[in-house]
This record gives sequence, C-alpha cells and structure tokens, in this order.
Amino acid sequence: MTRLIPSSAITPESLYTRRGFLGIAGALSAATLLAACGRRATEPTLSGEQPASEPRDELDDPLNSFEQITNYNNYYEFTTDKQEVARLATSFRSSPWELEVGGLVARPRIFALEDLLAFPQEERIYRLRCVEGWSMVIPWQGFPLHQLLRMVEPLPTARYVRFETIFRPEEMPGQRDRYYPWPYIEGLRLDEAMHDLTLMATGLYGRTLPPQNGAPVRLVVPWKYGFKSIKAVVRIELTEQIPTSLWMAMAPHEYGFYANVNPEVAHPRWSQASERRIGELGRRPTLPFNGYADEVAMLYSGMDLRRNF
Ligand code: MTE
Repeated sequence: MTRLIPSSAITPESLYTRRGFLGIAGALSAATLLAACGRRATEPTLSGEQPASEPRDELDDPLNSFEQITNYNNYYEFTTDKQEVARLATSFRSSPWELEVGGLVARPRIFALEDLLAFPQEERIYRLRCVEGWSMVIPWQGFPLHQLLRMVEPLPTARYVRFETIFRPEEMPGQRDRYYPWPYIEGLRLDEAMHDLTLMATGLYGRTLPPQNGAPVRLVVPWKYGFKSIKAVVRIELTEQIPTSLWMAMAPHEYGFYANVNPEVAHPRWSQASERRIGELGRRPTLPFNGYADEVAMLYSGMDLRRNF
C-alpha cells in the first residue's frame, strides 16, 4: 500500500480505472507543445498541419491525456480519494485571486491573478512522479518562478522559499478534517526556486488550470516528488530558516525537505526504484531526479542524498 499519508492514517486505496483519451491534444497547437522541450519529438510539418504522431517529452514518452491528468489527483484539501477530487472541486472559486510575496525581499508585493498571467506564458512538458509510485507526463503552461522572485528582489539573507496554499474550508471539504495541520505548506532552497525548470503553472493542455490541478496557480518542480508541487498558492515568503512543510510536520521520518526523486532511496514503507505510468501496464524504472539529473544534479554536489532525503 503506497499512500502519502502517514501509516497511522491508511485507508484502502480505490482502484484507478483507466479512462479513454479525449483527443484534446489535437486541439492544441503541436508547435507550442513541442516548443517546450521535445528535443526528440516530431517537428510540425511546414504547412502547419498536425504531425502524424502525438507530442512527446524529451525522453520520447507520450503525454498523458487531459482526462487522465484531471481525474486522478492528489489534493487533500478536497479529499484523499483521487477520483473524487475533480467532482468536489468544481465550485472552487479561483478568481479573483491574490498571491502575496514577502519576507526577506526588498520589494514585497501582492500579485493579482492578472499580474501572474501577464508574465510571458511558456509551454513545458514535464514528468510528474508522485512519491506513491505513479507518474504522468503533463503539458503545463506557466512562467519560471525566478521571474517573479527577481521582481521582489530577494535580500542577501534569504536562503529558502516557503509556499502556502489557500485555507478555505467552506469550499474545500478536506480542510474541515482537523487531522491535517492546514494550510498545506511546502518549501524550496532559494537556488532550487531560482532554477529555470521551477515553474509556476497557470494552465495545462492549452487551457486554464482546472481546480483539481491547483487553480489558479501552482508550483511545479519536476525533479522532486509531486508533493513538493504545491497547489493554489496564496503566499510565498523568503526566509533564512528552512521551512517546515505539512508532510515534514506530520511524518518527519517519511518525508524530508528535499524530496528529490531518487530510485536508490526507498520510502520507509515502499521502494522508489520503479513507478507505474498512468495508462500503462506494468512498471518502469524510476530515473534519478526524475530524468532531470543533467539540469539539476549540480545543485546537490557534495551532499549526502540519503541523509538529505
Ligand atoms: N498541493 C496541495 N495544496 N494539496 C495537496 O494535497 N498534493 C500533492 C501536490 N500538491 C497536494 C498538493 C501531490 S502528493 C501530488 S502527487 C501533486 O500535487 C498532484 O498534482 P496533480 O493532481 O495536478 O497531478
């Protein structure tokens, strides 16, 4: 049984039923998707027609369907049942929205949703590897977090970035469950937050971000386990001290601060050596840093990644 929640709170996991491909990929311009990082993907034809093959990521893996990405979600503010999140999140109000950025910065600022959408939006195809041992390939839109952080001018004393999800129990039924120490908190080292792969996502598959995927704005850190990619962010604070995430607070021996995808370091209750790609039969080997080692391994040179798990 691989669940994110601590062993003290395990309930049976419902079986995931594979749903059909909606064909929404075809509605998106292949050129925009391929622009992201599909080094080995098929180029669009000169006439601008869709290529015969579907877009793929740079490892040549096909994308998960819109239907899969939006109906199999971890979002404990709504429920721990992955297939019920979408239904429970339909009436979540993601507009208007304010994201407050402060702490150790020279220019603290509140960004309205319109301000966030004013950053040049990019398409990024990223693998998302959940700590539970499943994964997907998701075409996001968004902007690198470093663009926002540069605007607020981090002070020399800032070393970490703390992120906070909205607390709105009247719309998020899971937040009425006081078992979890809401709000959901996550953190990054400042250099991780400034890395170009670290994205603030505002959409997927060419559409506005659905509520179940973290509307209107969520973090995506593709080389870390999915729980670091915090949804519905309302506050970002630059700090000197290492932030305590919700999962570190709940189960410090199971969830560390770094949470880099690492097939060699098992979770205390299961191996991380392989994963199940949603929509595939069988398992595939898990890659160090989720396949992004060339881009990010240098952030951790000299560190013991077993101790800093
Ligand atoms: N963010 C918040 N606020 N609450 C959550 O429960 N779950 C995390 C992460 N972000 C979670 C969250 C986990 S465990 C995963 S795997 C990803 O969101 C799932 O993102 P997805 O539903 O968009 O695939």
